[in-house]
Amino acid sequence: MVLPCLAIVLMLAGIALACGDDHTHTHTHVQKREFPSAPLTPPSRPLQWGSLNVIHTTDSHGWLLGHQHASFPEPNYSGDFGDFASFVAHMKELALEKDVDLLLIDSGDLHDGTGLSDGFPVGGVDAHASNGFFKQLPYDLLTIGNHELYIYNNTLDMHENFAPHFPGRYLSSNVNITINNASVPVGSRFAKFKTRKGRSVTSLGVLYDFTDNDAGTTVQFVADMVKEAWFAEAIKEKPDLFLLAGHMPVARDNWPLVYDAIRAVHPLTPILILGGHSHVRNCLQFDGRSIALESGRYMETVGWLSADLPPPNTAETSQNITFSRRYLDPNRVTYEFHTGKGNFSFDTAWGKGITKGLEDLSKAFDLTFEYGVAPHDFTLSRSPFPSNDSILSLVATALPIGLAVNNTRASIPNIMITNSGELRFDIFAGTFTKNDQLTASPFMDSFLFIPNVTAGVAKGVVEGLNGGGLDAVGRRAEDVQAERWARGYVEARYREWLKEMHERDSPTRRDVAENLTLGYVTTDTCPGGVGDDTPHVALPFFSSPDYIASAAPDVSDDTPIDLVFIDFIQSDVLGVLNSLQSETVYTGDDAALYTDILMSQVLGVYAQQVWN
Ligand SMILES: *[C@@H]1O[C@H](CO)[C@@H](O)[C@H](O)[C@H]1NC(C)=O
Ligand SMILES: *[C@@H]1O[C@H](CO)[C@@H](O)[C@H](O)[C@H]1NC(C)=O
Ligand SMILES: *[C@@H]1O[C@H](CO)[C@@H](O)[C@H](O)[C@H]1NC(C)=O
Ligand SMILES: *[C@@H]1O[C@H](CO)[C@@H](O)[C@H](O)[C@H]1NC(C)=O
Ligand SMILES: *[C@@H]1O[C@H](CO)[C@@H](O)[C@H](O)[C@H]1NC(C)=O
Ligand SMILES: *[C@@H]1O[C@H](CO)[C@@H](O)[C@H](O)[C@H]1NC(C)=O
Ligand SMILES: *[C@@H]1O[C@H](CO)[C@@H](O)[C@H](O)[C@H]1NC(C)=O
Ligand SMILES: *[C@@H]1O[C@H](CO)[C@@H](O)[C@H](O)[C@H]1NC(C)=O
Ligand SMILES: *[C@@H]1O[C@H](CO)[C@@H](O)[C@H](O)[C@H]1NC(C)=O
Ligand SMILES: *[C@@H]1O[C@H](CO)[C@@H](O)[C@H](O)[C@H]1NC(C)=O
Ligand SMILES: [Zn+2]
Ligand SMILES: [Zn+2]
Repeated sequence: MVLPCLAIVLMLAGIALACGDDHTHTHTHVQKREFPSAPLTPPSRPLQWGSLNVIHTTDSHGWLLGHQHASFPEPNYSGDFGDFASFVAHMKELALEKDVDLLLIDSGDLHDGTGLSDGFPVGGVDAHASNGFFKQLPYDLLTIGNHELYIYNNTLDMHENFAPHFPGRYLSSNVNITINNASVPVGSRFAKFKTRKGRSVTSLGVLYDFTDNDAGTTVQFVADMVKEAWFAEAIKEKPDLFLLAGHMPVARDNWPLVYDAIRAVHPLTPILILGGHSHVRNCLQFDGRSIALESGRYMETVGWLSADLPPPNTAETSQNITFSRRYLDPNRVTYEFHTGKGNFSFDTAWGKGITKGLEDLSKAFDLTFEYGVAPHDFTLSRSPFPSNDSILSLVATALPIGLAVNNTRASIPNIMITNSGELRFDIFAGTFTKNDQLTASPFMDSFLFIPNVTAGVAKGVVEGLNGGGLDAVGRRAEDVQAERWARGYVEARYREWLKEMHERDSPTRRDVAENLTLGYVTTDTCPGGVGDDTPHVALPFFSSPDYIASAAPDVSDDTPIDLVFIDFIQSDVLGVLNSLQSETVYTGDDAALYTDILMSQVLGVYAQQVWN
């Protein structure tokens, strides 16, 4: 019997490209999540709806095809953007039935993180293609992230091709781009609109105080923005609510400046804040009539916020507003649970079209190209360093093997150093594809070397880099952290969160929680009970050093060797090198390109050698 293509897909319960036109290709099949391959725990309870509700995404970084590996907890995040679109469509229907407002909001960082955003062919623009799928969703409000600003052309693409698709609703209150010598907002500075139920809304889109933006883009600090005449004018009129999107963490950042500026004029008007950037789940209230929600990263979380607001144009009271918030694990089980749909009623033609489009893009970018098969999971923080399961240990092993390929200096003994921030995501057991390489390390950084460093000195460099609370040029550790934060490094803050939840999640609870699966265990200060939609047990957490090095060669300390390092840390390496010896004063001129292989490629080269 010849079954139609769809039926075969459904029956095989897993293989997505089975009906594609090339049955003979050797690439990995994208795992179809029509039926999740692992049994998924459903959410704990229905969502609490209010008269105004928000579905929130942030820091998606190109993760639109969902998390595709089978290792825990990846299946929890296996919903793709087509599934998400179907979810949004059903939720919109529910909102109509309930006759309430439902808004869809994104808080930025669409660039940098997966093959869909970064795997574009030479001459392309990062995330241009993947943003096409964002444009297919009915976002009511979006704002710019710091990852939209590292490369001028990416910002230009947002200005010319993305913002116009959401007229007036792509907000960049404090971010400009310079075009033909004129500085203009990348999107719009603010928005005023009415919801379906007639509520008047004033919105801003604020970026945290980011300093590493490319030439031709401007970020105004939040403290200065709130003093602008346009800002005062924009918030002057009293709306039914302020709805603020921002690529700025809800805690330990500058939201209070914006909140205070508004409260000074409107002591009682509801303020709803949708934040982002630090990649955590969090929620807090500045007062009983405001709330601030942050919804994680990498499409591992979809945020839900509801508020029981009075009908439009009702006189304000000082009574606390009833809010609720929830952090959803984006997968089909979650989506079906909350929309009351089943396996066969959930998909919409629209959602399936998006999934198909994403799979086609994945094919066009050759993202399923397989470098090898990873023998087990290698993680950033779930395994100790050093250990066989640490991705940092893997990199320390992989660099000398990968960078030796086609390299005339390969026979000269060496020590290779990188900062651990070059690694962005875990590698999971199974196929290691072009997409996996880009999620593990998307950074196109080069490797440099300084020849003739004596082995004794070279051996001390990584220790010097990691050492002592003072960095190479004698700055205090907090200043170094603050500077990194301003340049966009969020990993330290994210890891603090993982560490905290791991320590809080005591072994006792882990025993009780025998039926719980690994994932985020969020605590926040918002009302309404536990925020996590599906209860989890916290992932193990181990800290790791900021810098890692390959094993020292077995040579005497006076042997001249190559000191190889990632270009990103050049000034730190030179500083330490000059503090460890006084014979030579090393400068940038002593460093030369070691290989054409970039950080974003080296794990693939290694996998082809070792995992094939
Ligand atoms: C999370 O992933 C684990 C492992 O596959 C699975 O057992 C669990 O049911 C998942 N939970 C949800 C809500 O998807
Ligand atoms: C930026 O884009 C323009 C045209 O789209 C192109 O000519 C230029 O080479 C790009 N610059 C970079 C640095 O990619
Ligand atoms: C842009 O402005 C600068 C400084 O105002 C000026 O020197 C330069 O000539 C201008 N360039 C163009 C293309 O107008
Ligand atoms: C941003 O652009 C607006 C409009 O051109 C301009 O008035 C403002 O000075 C610019 N702001 C910054 C910080 O460059
Ligand atoms: C209103 O909310 C604030 C902030 O959450 C809280 O401190 C206060 O106790 C609440 N007041 C009442 C009457 O519930
Ligand atoms: C959906 O399919 C899965 C896998 O076949 C099955 O376990 C689950 O019970 C189905 N759910 C519904 C609501 O039909
Ligand atoms: C680590 O890997 C090495 C090489 O494969 C193996 O010999 C060793 O037993 C492993 N160590 C542990 C603790 O698994
Ligand atoms: C090494 O050189 C060979 C032959 O020129 C080439 O096919 C291969 O792609 C190179 N490998 C890398 C990783 O550059
Ligand atoms: C390294 O040192 C040796 C001997 O001191 C010298 O001959 C050689 O030119 C040096 N190499 C480089 C690249 O500086
Ligand atoms: C785990 O699940 C099983 C089957 O649903 C149930 O019988 C058992 O009581 C659960 N254990 C705990 C600790 O909740
Ligand atoms: Zn981000
Ligand atoms: Zn960010």
